[in-house]
Amino acid sequence: MKDIAHIRQDYLLAELDEKSVGSDPIGFFSTWFTEAQNADIPDVNAMTLSTVDAENKAHGRIVLLKDVEDGQFVFYTNYNSHKGAEIAANPHVSLLFFWKELERQVRIEGVATKVTPEKSTEYFNSRPDASKLGAWSSPQSQVIENRNILDANYKQFSDQFANTIPRPEHWGGYGVSPSTIEFWQGRASRMHDRILFTKGENNSWSKCRLAP
Ligand SMILES: Cc1cc2nc3c(=O)[nH]c(=O)nc-3n(C[C@H](O)[C@H](O)[C@H](O)COP(=O)(O)O)c2cc1C
Repeated sequence: MKDIAHIRQDYLLAELDEKSVGSDPIGFFSTWFTEAQNADIPDVNAMTLSTVDAENKAHGRIVLLKDVEDGQFVFYTNYNSHKGAEIAANPHVSLLFFWKELERQVRIEGVATKVTPEKSTEYFNSRPDASKLGAWSSPQSQVIENRNILDANYKQFSDQFANTIPRPEHWGGYGVSPSTIEFWQGRASRMHDRILFTKGENNSWSKCRLAP
C-alpha cells in the first residue's frame, strides 16, 4: 500500500441545496439514481447493507437494489444467510450508496421486512436460469468444505429442475422502509452539502441541513 495518508480528493462537481432536493426524498432518490445511471456508473445499484446481530455487533456487505416500490428499497437474498438471521433478530438496517463519479453518497436507515412471496417469485422468475440454480446451490453464509460442493450442488439441481426452476422458499426479498434518508454532495475543502430527511409520526418528511 502506497502512502495511504496522502490519498486525497477534492470534490468540485456540484452543489446541493434545500430547494433542489424538494420535499419528497424517495422522488429525489429516483432523480439521483437516474443521473447515476445516465453517468454509466458501474454497479450503480450496489449498496452496502448494514445489519446488527443479536449481540449488537454490526455487519456490512454489498447487495443490489432491485426495486423502489411503495416507498420501500428492495433487495433479494437468502433468508437463511447471516444477514437474514440478523434482520430476524433486529430489523433496523442501513443502506449506503457511494456514486464517486458524481461525488455523491446516499444514506438510508430504516426497518427491513420480507416482501410478499408473490413479489419474490415474480422477481425470481425474471432471473437467468444460472442465477436461479445458484440460489438453490449455495447455502449462503454457511461453512463449506470446498468449492466442489457448490459445483456438485449446481449439477444436482440442474438435473432435478430440467424444465422450470421454482423459487426456493429460503430465497426472497426484503423491503426497507426508510425513517431517514441523507443526501451528500461533495464540495471543495471538505465543506460538503448534507441534507437529511426524517420521517415524522404522520409519515410526512421534514428536512434539515447537517454540517459536513
Ligand atoms: C457487487 C456485489 C453485489 C452483491 N449482490 C448481492 C445481492 O443482491 N444479494 C445477496 O444476497 N448477496 C449479494 N452479494 C454478496 C454479499 O455481499 C454477501 O457476500 C452475501 O450476501 C453473504 O452475506 P451474509 O453472510 O452477511 O449474509 C453481492 C456482492 C457484491 C460484491
